[in-house]
Amino acid sequence: MNAKDNLIDFDVKHIWHPAAQMKDYESFPPVPVVRGKGCYLFTEDGHEILDIISSWWCNLLGHCNEEISDALCKQAKTLEHVIFANFTHPWVVGLTKELLSIVPKGITHFNYGDNGSSSVEMALKIAFQYQQQIGQTKRRRFACLSEGYHGETIGALSVGSMDLYNLMYKPMMMDNIHIEAPDLFLHPGDYPQKCMERAEKVFEEHGSELCALIVEPLLQGAGGMRIYPAEYLKFLSDLCKKHGVLLIADEIATGFGRTGKWFACDHAGITPDLMCMSKAITGGYMPMSVVGVTDQVYDAFLGEYSEGKAFLHSHTYAGNPLACACALSVIRILKRDHIIEKACETAQWLSTSFAQRFSSLKNVGQVRSIGLINVMEIVKDKTTKERFPSSLRLGYRIYQDALKEGLLLRPIGDTLYFNPPLNISKEDLTKAMDITYKVLTRNLENMS
Ligand SMILES: Cc1ncc(COP(=O)(O)O)c(C=O)c1O
Repeated sequence: MNAKDNLIDFDVKHIWHPAAQMKDYESFPPVPVVRGKGCYLFTEDGHEILDIISSWWCNLLGHCNEEISDALCKQAKTLEHVIFANFTHPWVVGLTKELLSIVPKGITHFNYGDNGSSSVEMALKIAFQYQQQIGQTKRRRFACLSEGYHGETIGALSVGSMDLYNLMYKPMMMDNIHIEAPDLFLHPGDYPQKCMERAEKVFEEHGSELCALIVEPLLQGAGGMRIYPAEYLKFLSDLCKKHGVLLIADEIATGFGRTGKWFACDHAGITPDLMCMSKAITGGYMPMSVVGVTDQVYDAFLGEYSEGKAFLHSHTYAGNPLACACALSVIRILKRDHIIEKACETAQWLSTSFAQRFSSLKNVGQVRSIGLINVMEIVKDKTTKERFPSSLRLGYRIYQDALKEGLLLRPIGDTLYFNPPLNISKEDLTKAMDITYKVLTRNLENMS
């Protein structure tokens, strides 16, 4: 048995991978990756894999970016970690200054954590405690959008609407209000307008019970890369203000240029009361999350110790200097090299090429894009938008086939998408489209 087989064999015997039926791993074992560079991952036996999903949306500037790697190494030799309760350090102060310069105006205080789900948990707790402390004690529920996803911890699952992830745990969950969000694939045309009316009705009926509404601004990622208009977000923001409900923007997947602006909220020109950030913040190097809040929210927690208003919430790795050094480096590169502006130029080219390449295919029901994120819906029937039976696991087959061809494409069901690093070249994007076209048409031929 060679080293590669050893690695896989041991993995399959002892390791429980995320979001997987581990039985599948017996027939389709994990891919042993030993190195990364730019948009590519390399396996032990020298195969290169083009990582078109930024290894699940966090790798922002390519794997093993020299500048970020150097910043991390330097930091590891200076200070790796220090308790964040009652201590501070130059890297977290530097990062906070940078965040202040890029977040929507009005977000002024930042609470650090170490992963997306726990930042959502933190935001929910802050919103709840805020309402209690300003005397709105009847506000105990949360509203969220259909097909929303906010993470895997119980609170985050409770404000998610995807049965796939949360059905099993329903008995453990909070009783939240799920508002139907626009689905411009299934219901184009005047649908956002109808959804606004629906949201308004929900707020009229339940507005006084709500502490907060949580949304993924503009892009509902795990729910199938659904994109809704900025006007809908602006409408929800105004609705929240009118009813004294806090707005939590979950920018975990959308922040740091993914949608063509620093944050998706910027498209709508809004400042949420709370904003969750994670994933791309460290360029995919270190786990980190941040909840940004306004003065209004922060001030409700200030008082004498005896008043018991403090937010008693902590995570061991809060403000971790290694993560801060990476995040500082990421923001420095984004600003200095005008990465978001350049990504917008590439995005224009990509969305045109992507649509030209795929939209006319018999089984492509829709293509859409935001920033460098490009999406296509695979359907059995283009007119009715009927899907292939889920038992066929078409998306999973395409995933396996693409991997064999050297592309890490990870469909969500039968929704195929690219979400590459912002500095990816047109050559690599062309290669990704070529491989996608090849495996898609091959698999669709097999279906007919
Ligand atoms: C919008 C959104 N919120 C929250 C999360 C959860 O983040 P994490 O996986 O770091 O817990 C994700 C992860 O994909 C996400 O896309």
